Amino acid sequence: MNSTRIINAPSLANCAFTELGQQVEELVRGGADWFHIDIMDGHYVPNLCFPVKIVGELKTKYPEMVADVHLMVTDPMSYLPLLKSNGADWVSFHMDATHFSRRTLTTIRDMGMKAGVVINPSQPVSVIEPVIHFLDYVVLMTVEPGYAGQRFMEDSLGRLDALVALRKAHGVDFLISIDGGVDYPNAIECARRGAEIYVTGIFTVFRQPDGIADACVRFKQTLTRAVEVLD
Ligand code: DX5
Ligand code: ZN
Repeated sequence: MNSTRIINAPSLANCAFTELGQQVEELVRGGADWFHIDIMDGHYVPNLCFPVKIVGELKTKYPEMVADVHLMVTDPMSYLPLLKSNGADWVSFHMDATHFSRRTLTTIRDMGMKAGVVINPSQPVSVIEPVIHFLDYVVLMTVEPGYAGQRFMEDSLGRLDALVALRKAHGVDFLISIDGGVDYPNAIECARRGAEIYVTGIFTVFRQPDGIADACVRFKQTLTRAVEVLD
């Protein structure tokens, strides 16, 4: 029995910023589960994205939506109090951004948020082993971080297999999130392999001919079916 639940977490970095409010509304109407919110500091990655303030505004307007914050910053610990006061629900950071991943994870949890680490394409997935018992989720980058709209790296599928195997070997139950260039063929492969969370972007949810809301419905249905046939 495969009881995987598919979580659609659209990356708001893919919104047209001049139409942000309207596009967020469409995501909600289409049944998106989480908002994936990329926060960049211009140092960990050579780009900027959202300020923390957007988390608070989104949670005020859509309290039922999960705010999944992906920190691409050199000092994740310093963002945590502000993220908490803005209502962030799930927070992930890059393991190579800090010497103190374990302390950062436990601090996130102690604040009442769910905690995760992000694995870059150049890191072995085994990098999570020392902190494997402190994880609510692991974000597997399937592109180099820093920009939306890049193509999914095909060798990520083998890396996902290794991550799923690691989860099983340690008897833990963190969720696996796929972030970067998620498209249909690869998302279906990831669903079959055991990933739960999909950071969706321009290849699935945005800029689709059927519009954002219907594209969200289609994504969820397609992936749910792909997993159901395994049951
Ligand atoms: C990249 C970000 C992603 C990105 C995903 O650094 O972490 O969340 O916005 O969007 P797509 O699917 O367009 O790669
Ligand atoms: Zn992201």
